[in-house]
Amino acid sequence: MGKRRPMVVGNWKMNTDRAGALRLALDVADGMSTIGDAVDAAVCPPFVYLDAVGRALSAAGSALALGAQDMYFETDGAYTGEISSAMLNDLSCAYVLTGHSERRHVLGESDEMVARKTAAVLNAGMHCILCVGETIEQRRAAQTDEVNERKARAALKGVKPDAYSRLTIAYEPVWAIGTGHSATPADAQDAHAKIRDLLRRVLGESAADSIRILYGGSVKPSNAAELFAQPDVDGGLIGGASLKAADFLAIMRAAVGR
Ligand code: PGA
Repeated sequence: MGKRRPMVVGNWKMNTDRAGALRLALDVADGMSTIGDAVDAAVCPPFVYLDAVGRALSAAGSALALGAQDMYFETDGAYTGEISSAMLNDLSCAYVLTGHSERRHVLGESDEMVARKTAAVLNAGMHCILCVGETIEQRRAAQTDEVNERKARAALKGVKPDAYSRLTIAYEPVWAIGTGHSATPADAQDAHAKIRDLLRRVLGESAADSIRILYGGSVKPSNAAELFAQPDVDGGLIGGASLKAADFLAIMRAAVGR
């Protein structure tokens, strides 16, 4: 068992409607009462439902935290369609994802943009989950560690020591996201250990020991326990399986039991 407190985060992506988002959040909150509090759990609904979901969770007195799937790095101004840190803080959003592979590969975000977003989230006092991971071509070319290092190094440049405790890394191999084929526990552990080694070199020993590295990419109830049993896997970033309360809760249970 790793020494870090486990974390499980649901990334709902562009799914749910208003009623469905509320139901899902409250079902997860309900089920969490049987799991205990030995896990940090959050859900990232679409922006437009953050307010409603946040209000429902706080009315229910739930420990399930609220996260956003993205955030813009400027504080305000003429950025049509974008969402600022102040807006997310306003809604008591505790977590923000940066650099998710769909933002990078579908929407064209560069390492530079992800770095600015990561710094902006942390400077605004929120907790950042920075995503890295290789494509299938990069894995076949044995570039996994190099790609993770490049993506992580670029984003870590702007992270100040007082923000290390609010930083989490998510290793999400692009070929495993939404495909049903997760990395093997051994491959996940190998990538996580390399990322932790990088954290050691860039941020120092104690930051590397305490920063959580989540695995993401086709995590489901049937494979969560063996992935989370790896010493450098501190929990998961869950897409598809977070849309079913029972599955997400089962994954949370696996994180507590690791
Ligand atoms: P998945 O997505 O669990 O559906 O593979 C993970 C993610 O993109 O965060």
